[in-house]
Amino acid sequence: MTASTAMTTDSFRPALHYAARDTWLNDPNGLIHHGGLYHLYYQNNPLGNVWGNMSWGHASSPDLLNWTEHPVAIACDEDEEIFSGSIVFDRNNTSGLGTNETAPLVAIYTSAFKEGSAHHGVQAQSLASSLDGGYTWTKYANNPVLNRGSSEFRDPKVFRYEGAAGSYWVMVAVEATDFQVVLYKSENLRDWELLSTFGPANATGGIWECPDLFPLPLDGDPENLKWVLIVNLNPGGPNGGSAGQYFVGDFDGATFTPATMVTEGVQDPAHLGEYQWLDWGRDYYAAVSFSDAPDNRRLMIGWMNNWQYANDIPTAPWRSPMSLAREISLQTVDGKLRLAQHVAEDLAALSGLSPEFELAETNISDQTLVLEGAAGSVQHITLTFTPGTAEEFGLVVRSDGTLGTRIGIHPAEGRIFIDRRDSGLSEFHESFASIDSAPILPIDNAYELSVYVDHCSVEVFAQGGLVTMTELIFPSITSTDVALYAVGGTASVGDLNLTRWA
Ligand code: FRU
Repeated sequence: MTASTAMTTDSFRPALHYAARDTWLNDPNGLIHHGGLYHLYYQNNPLGNVWGNMSWGHASSPDLLNWTEHPVAIACDEDEEIFSGSIVFDRNNTSGLGTNETAPLVAIYTSAFKEGSAHHGVQAQSLASSLDGGYTWTKYANNPVLNRGSSEFRDPKVFRYEGAAGSYWVMVAVEATDFQVVLYKSENLRDWELLSTFGPANATGGIWECPDLFPLPLDGDPENLKWVLIVNLNPGGPNGGSAGQYFVGDFDGATFTPATMVTEGVQDPAHLGEYQWLDWGRDYYAAVSFSDAPDNRRLMIGWMNNWQYANDIPTAPWRSPMSLAREISLQTVDGKLRLAQHVAEDLAALSGLSPEFELAETNISDQTLVLEGAAGSVQHITLTFTPGTAEEFGLVVRSDGTLGTRIGIHPAEGRIFIDRRDSGLSEFHESFASIDSAPILPIDNAYELSVYVDHCSVEVFAQGGLVTMTELIFPSITSTDVALYAVGGTASVGDLNLTRWA
């Protein structure tokens, strides 16, 4: 991997995922493809490996697999911490922050003003610009550019709207404790005018943070665009703590109108399981999408952690990885509008690997079958289960032969789960050991899984990515077995392919 990845030897450092060299990170910020590279900025504590001193760290990658860490992009100072936000390429220099020769990249971030600053207690939106492709940044002299006098107004995601209503910049941000998304428009990124608000709706079991809004073709039809509103919330996720929900609907340039709203106003806990979640696992938060991704692809990255225990996970000197980059599409499934996700790149092909373990159709019956020759700690496993009489079946990864991380399906309950109670270290926080689940339906009487295992994580994409679950695990380096299992009867396994990096 990259030089930054090779510098430490701790056993949990991911092989396929980005983590900072020796500092803390949380939310992805300012995701943009620019100058032939994917740029990943992120909430970073440049001085330690717990949350604090919030600044924007920076890494770039040609391929979403190999990342190079750069110096801090936008640093906190005595007046402000630099909270989450986004970056746009201001092609026509609408902001005036470029020069005659160079159009600027403009970062729109939240200034969390500190005690002693003129705006103490306020969160407001500010600008910084870069004329060298995103490596060095200058804060705008007249910051903040959008101040509502609120202490919970943050996480601006800005995009260029081109549609029936015109052509202008749109910002989606949150009033976090009001469970509200607020939408603004601007001609120049400096002057902002309120368009509308959205919410509270659906999940409101925690404050709303890090929104995103983007169009996607429905069922691949570019003539039929729908808009997806992402709202991350913390806590209040379907399995506890941080998670991201989404709404699908229409956006007319001013107002988002959901077609998938279950609850208007604050949440009725009875409906929690009916809301639509970007990921049902415990560790996929603050996910937002890239600006200007090639070929109009909608690519997202989430922070692979959960505020319940984020500062306590047992890694050092770094803390928290990012998820793999995912490509998002929109499908009609049983009359419902659903996102489907898959890992954005063929990581095995990028790494020059091909499947090295394949298994012919295999029947398992009330047993745990360790796959000889399949052991590894960094793997991509794809397989299909066809239920027989078993009440539960699945896969065990990072196993020591007995204990491991269980990815199982309970067909009668219509649930898929990750059981990490015996996954490895868990005592660092009382809420970490858990069994977490999501609704799942068979397709053609089968369950198809694509599972990415890394040194401290599992990411499960089930049924063509219609259900995803992402969780951290902290196994022993010697727990490398892969097993299939069935409880109380039979199941069959087909199309098993396994590629391994380590
Ligand atoms: C989400 C969040 C954002 C905020 C940032 C601060 O995880 O709380 O709302 O901008 O983290 O680091």
